[in-house]
Amino acid sequence: MSSRENPGWDHVWAGGHLATMTAAHAGYGVIENAAVAVRDGRIAWIGAARDGRSQAGAQGVPVTEIDGLWLTPGLIDCHTHLVYGGSRVAEFERRLEGASYEQIARAGGGIRSTVAATRAAGRAQLLRAAGARLRRLSEEGVTTVEVKSGYGLDLPTERRMLEVARALESVAPVSIRTTYLGLHALPEERRDDRRGFIDDVCGPWLQTLAEEGLVDAVDAFCENIAFTPGETAKLLAAAQGLKIPAHLHAGQLSDLGAAELAARYGAMSADHLEYLGEAGARALAAAGTVAVLLPCAYYTLRQTVPPPVPLLREAGVPLAVATDCNPGTSPCVSLLLALNMACTLFGLTAVEALTGATRQAARALGLERQIGTLEVGKRADFALWEVESPAQLCYGLGANPCVGVVRNGKSTAARQQSP
Ligand code: NIG
Ligand code: FE
Repeated sequence: MSSRENPGWDHVWAGGHLATMTAAHAGYGVIENAAVAVRDGRIAWIGAARDGRSQAGAQGVPVTEIDGLWLTPGLIDCHTHLVYGGSRVAEFERRLEGASYEQIARAGGGIRSTVAATRAAGRAQLLRAAGARLRRLSEEGVTTVEVKSGYGLDLPTERRMLEVARALESVAPVSIRTTYLGLHALPEERRDDRRGFIDDVCGPWLQTLAEEGLVDAVDAFCENIAFTPGETAKLLAAAQGLKIPAHLHAGQLSDLGAAELAARYGAMSADHLEYLGEAGARALAAAGTVAVLLPCAYYTLRQTVPPPVPLLREAGVPLAVATDCNPGTSPCVSLLLALNMACTLFGLTAVEALTGATRQAARALGLERQIGTLEVGKRADFALWEVESPAQLCYGLGANPCVGVVRNGKSTAARQQSP
């Protein structure tokens, strides 16, 4: 570039190694000894470190030297229930004594106990608790988080959850996507009014919350302890009518054909999928629906049947990985731990796991054009890591090698590098 062509860059990071995670490159899409330039919150240029330095020098653009560090796209946690009241530690103890998740749920505990605690919690309390969890994710390089409602199950509390989710953007340098999980459980007070509850969820509540700008997507828990495929289809159809995309909790505890249902409605993702047959996998592949794997929930529930990863691979279903952070089945605030478990428990390769928390997670949120890879034009969200290779992000247990986070082209956090 000649000196007359002012690149107009705001900042350059130079000297590190990039794991671009682009589809065009095999594996991590590595570019060694590289530089990334940002302008107006977007990636403006990627190239060799020395070219980046010399162009920045000529234009007086500030350069941050990141020698020896790895730079990845900001991680994306595409399935969380981050906003909730209380905890479920007592249930954890009951499960250790032998009770099953289903037994506790059928006895009125489980999701419904969190509903009671969430209804009782004020906005500030919910924000404080969810904010603490979000900061933990953010410290590990996460820059986008999906947050579901579903512990309100009445209009005011569902609204409060979604408002708190939106407000989380001011707590940590993270972009939030909200999901209205209207059909999560049947609340106690509607026990004898199942149909009326479903009509409210799919009708006026969805309409109102969507008009208030609180709903980026919908979700339902299609499961034998929750809602049938027929009931779930009502919400998916109502969302489709409003042009709101969908996720679906599918096949976590049994195969009711929820994956096929997700595919039929063109859902962005079908999540869990421990119980998935060949027809379901083929349907997901044909619809381009992302399979979101949630190994921390599988681990917490001590499940023994993992999702059929070889089948999903063979069918060509895109694989994402998320924490499922929630008080019942995954009290987990570490996406890196989820990546480790996706490898160790589900047999993903490290490339698949990291792609699952970047490019494929972006796709699960319908954000594949904005985030998820290091490419010119994408949002300048990235994380800096003190690791030997990208696989080390999946290797550690409780290690946090993140030494910096950049969001919208601005450095937001940096931990001390080791001496
Ligand atoms: O993804 N399965 C439904 N939802 C959560 C569990 C919620 C809860 O137990 O509170 C999940 O595992
Ligand atoms: Fe979930």
